[in-house]
Amino acid sequence: MMVYTYVGYFAAGLAVQVLVAKILKLCWIVLWRPYALIKSFEKQGIKGPSYSILHGTLPEMKTLLKAANEVILDTNCHDIAQRVQPHYNRWSAEYGEVFLFWRGVQPAIRIADPKLAKQILSDKSGAYAQPQFDHRLLSFAGNGVGQLNGPDWVRHRSILTPAFTRDKLKLMTKRMAACTIDMIDDWKNRARIADHQYVTIEMSEEFKKLTCDVITHTAFGSNYVEGGEVFKAQDELIHHCVATMADLYIPGSRFLPTPSNRQMWKMENNLNMVLLETLRLYCPVLETLRETSRATKLGDFLIPKGVFITIQLVQLHRSKEYWGEDANDFNPLRFKNGVSQAAKHPNAFLGFGMGPRTCLGQNFAMLEVKLVLSLLLQRFSFFLSPEYKHAPANYLTMEAQYGVPTIVKPLLSK
Ligand code: HEM
Repeated sequence: MMVYTYVGYFAAGLAVQVLVAKILKLCWIVLWRPYALIKSFEKQGIKGPSYSILHGTLPEMKTLLKAANEVILDTNCHDIAQRVQPHYNRWSAEYGEVFLFWRGVQPAIRIADPKLAKQILSDKSGAYAQPQFDHRLLSFAGNGVGQLNGPDWVRHRSILTPAFTRDKLKLMTKRMAACTIDMIDDWKNRARIADHQYVTIEMSEEFKKLTCDVITHTAFGSNYVEGGEVFKAQDELIHHCVATMADLYIPGSRFLPTPSNRQMWKMENNLNMVLLETLRLYCPVLETLRETSRATKLGDFLIPKGVFITIQLVQLHRSKEYWGEDANDFNPLRFKNGVSQAAKHPNAFLGFGMGPRTCLGQNFAMLEVKLVLSLLLQRFSFFLSPEYKHAPANYLTMEAQYGVPTIVKPLLSK
């Protein structure tokens, strides 16, 4: 009987100890650690909005985002940071360029400086790792190469890289064009049966469908039967693509200044500039995240282990310090001498990231959009519908909150 009593005391004592340890850990996470970090960052001149227990700075962020989501911008306004990331706007105005904020109990530093961004993104030591997202985000983003770290990432990246070489991409152009021609035929049919021979199309949805179609039919392979018929369409770009496909057999011919190549280069250069400027002002990836895997020196700051660092691309891309007073104007010519010469710092444009984790699909994406635009612009004229509301929003990537209704009119000649 006595023995049982001792065992009971012992078990109860153990349970109390475990409970106390858990309570202390919780206090460390929600109180002491935030307090200690706030003090340590303050000493380095980094301040930020007040931390509230468990919720961090999320409540203020939610309120600001909710209010911003109600705002409709002027169609010509490209100063969209106030709408897509109003909390960063508010906090940087109050606490300066680098500030501390809290995603719940997770500390995070926001930067928008190309020098610091370069240091983080070009790091190969593993000090700035990809954060491990919680299961809610993973269910959207998937657990692909973009989420891996260390040897797993090296292995996945080296397996995927060969799928995106220039020659492989060139071979994909046929399938990309086939998907686009399908979409074009559909638009033409819809315009033909419409009253005024034009049709209003919601472009966001349409392009999501097309992207999905292109990716399943090209990059990741499918048993899609190549529909030779679609290439009867005698469009200029396909001709050029086919002409340059000869590159695979005549090494170096794509560099010869033939009339076809010259026209192609000019077209490509103009389109490139327009696309880069669009990506600068409306970058689909709004911010790039890393997490310090150990205490690390970033510029003049000492960042402890386990802190998120967010590089706010939306702000970096419209910083007047680097892009000039017209930073919020749409001016493709700033890219006339290439990306590295477009601003006062070569890394002020990070639409596809940089360094070892630079976007793997960058060439694929640029090729696709150039091809699709060339095919569309030869066949249709486009006008923004009067129903359009300029409301870019943050849905993990940048999207149009109310879509992009567009009036599409087939051109007579095609
Ligand atoms: C306009 C379209 C696109 C934009 C703006 C874009 C942007 C980006 C950015 C900024 C990163 C770097 C993220 C970081 O540093 O944490 C990235 C990474 C990545 N992108 Fe893209 N991307 C685009 C299209 C694509 C496409 C079409 C694919 C695949 C077919 C792709 C595959 C990837 C992969 C696999 C990574 C992760 C690379 C790694 O962690 O090693 N992207 N992208």
